[in-house]
Amino acid sequence: MEHQLCLILNFGGQYNQLIARRVRECGVYCEVKPYNKITIEEIKALAPSGIIFTGGPNSVYGEKAPTVSREIFELGIPVLGICYGSQLMAHVLGGKVSTCITSEYGKTETTYDKSCTLFSAIKDMPEKAVSWMSHTDFISELPEGFTAVAHTEHCPVAAMENKEKKLYAVQFHPEVNHTEYGLGMIDSFLKNVCGCTGDWTMENYAETAIRDIRKKVGDGKVLLALSGGVDSSVLAALLSKAVGRQLTCIFVDHGFMRKNEGDEVEEAFRNWDINFVRVNAKDRFMEKLNGVSDPEAKRKIIGEEFIRVFEAEAKKIGKVDYFAQGTIYPDVIESGDDDEAAVIKSHHNVGGLPDYVDFKEIIEPLRMLFKDETRKLGQELGLSETLVWRQPFPGPGLAIRIIGEITNEKLEILQDADWIFREEIAKAGLDRSIHQYFAVLTDMRSVGVMGDFRTYDYTLALRGVTTTDFMTADFARIPYEVLETCSRRIVNEVKSINRVVYDITTKPPATIEWE
Ligand code: XMP
Repeated sequence: MEHQLCLILNFGGQYNQLIARRVRECGVYCEVKPYNKITIEEIKALAPSGIIFTGGPNSVYGEKAPTVSREIFELGIPVLGICYGSQLMAHVLGGKVSTCITSEYGKTETTYDKSCTLFSAIKDMPEKAVSWMSHTDFISELPEGFTAVAHTEHCPVAAMENKEKKLYAVQFHPEVNHTEYGLGMIDSFLKNVCGCTGDWTMENYAETAIRDIRKKVGDGKVLLALSGGVDSSVLAALLSKAVGRQLTCIFVDHGFMRKNEGDEVEEAFRNWDINFVRVNAKDRFMEKLNGVSDPEAKRKIIGEEFIRVFEAEAKKIGKVDYFAQGTIYPDVIESGDDDEAAVIKSHHNVGGLPDYVDFKEIIEPLRMLFKDETRKLGQELGLSETLVWRQPFPGPGLAIRIIGEITNEKLEILQDADWIFREEIAKAGLDRSIHQYFAVLTDMRSVGVMGDFRTYDYTLALRGVTTTDFMTADFARIPYEVLETCSRRIVNEVKSINRVVYDITTKPPATIEWE
């Protein structure tokens, strides 16, 4: 079944990804395209059920203001303009946009006309509610055929409607949580204006994706670097369902995974109908890292060595047709380049693409999915909860959680301590609410006393953060009792640790990792 599409035209707004997330939350598939990279003909060919214009930093009268052709409003496709998108709609259709005498930022009391289709179906929505504003221009004169359907103290047209032509615009940001009933408004636009059914589910996505991969790959060979992280694991599962043994997954185990994790990854995939290769390369990595304590040097060495090991293994397979990458939608939107050319995921897991792997083309079957959708897809495909809900883990692994030089002994200490911390967090039911949590083995020793003996051992740091984007983070408020149990168990059960501290810095100024 082909699904209905909502097209989101991106004018550079800071919330463009959020709009896409919300649309999908409403059960409608959507794609974000830069406004200037799609023609009217292409839009017609896509035949979206609706179009949303995002906000953007410009003023419609600015010299290089992004714009659209008037034709877009004449296609008979419903349009919802948000913020800049609303002003653009007004401007292009002959209304007037002016600079506010008083700009509005943040939570703003807004009065809604409840007869407007955007608001009428929202259960219990009052006439007055808070919306999130961020603008210095406003619609001062409506274009012909429109009526104002919301206003605030300083903004006479906080929303406008042309019911007949199915054109809607809101000055505020319905996609932001601070706008009360915002999700309902987006849902109303999609269902009551565009006529979307809201049946975009992972089940039908999986079917479509599997069919598309089969069509593209034919009887070709596919190669995947499997890290055991969420994206590459889900990708492996998807490809396995689509092309089975035409897929080879190479899992380079550098030895810096958490305790038992290398085995867990192998366990998870061993019985799938694919060629699964695990390379135990710990010794090679340890040798290269001997005496190295600088964090960036560690990362560089691990990245490079990873590629060498991967290449050596890939050479054994010979020529493959496709190299699969676990790029997901936020990477695509962020790169701002949604054309067919693959976005090379230059994150540090795999330090760029292996030079000497012989392949024809890159495929990125997850490039249209958000992280939580990727997880849902993984569940749909039968991956275990542990794999699907795995927290983010840096490519260089525990190597950057051992401050200073890495030794086998330190690695073992950290793995054991981290294991206890994770176990206790899970027992306390906090494993989904704390977005990333781990132990760090500091390079510091301090004096302690155990029984009648003086000790001089390592200090272990625990770190737990809550975050939405990992760009900023707050330290997790782990209950003292949980921390107490962790501390007691760690000093008792793990050798060479006599002190446990909890990291209470936010990011910024600290980073999430210690190195
Ligand atoms: P920081 O420490 O910069 O981390 O606040 C932000 C997020 O990125 C992860 N991280 C890495 N991921 N290779 C990775 O693949 C790395 O070298 C690396 N360093 C940090 C970190 O775990 C957090 O999720």
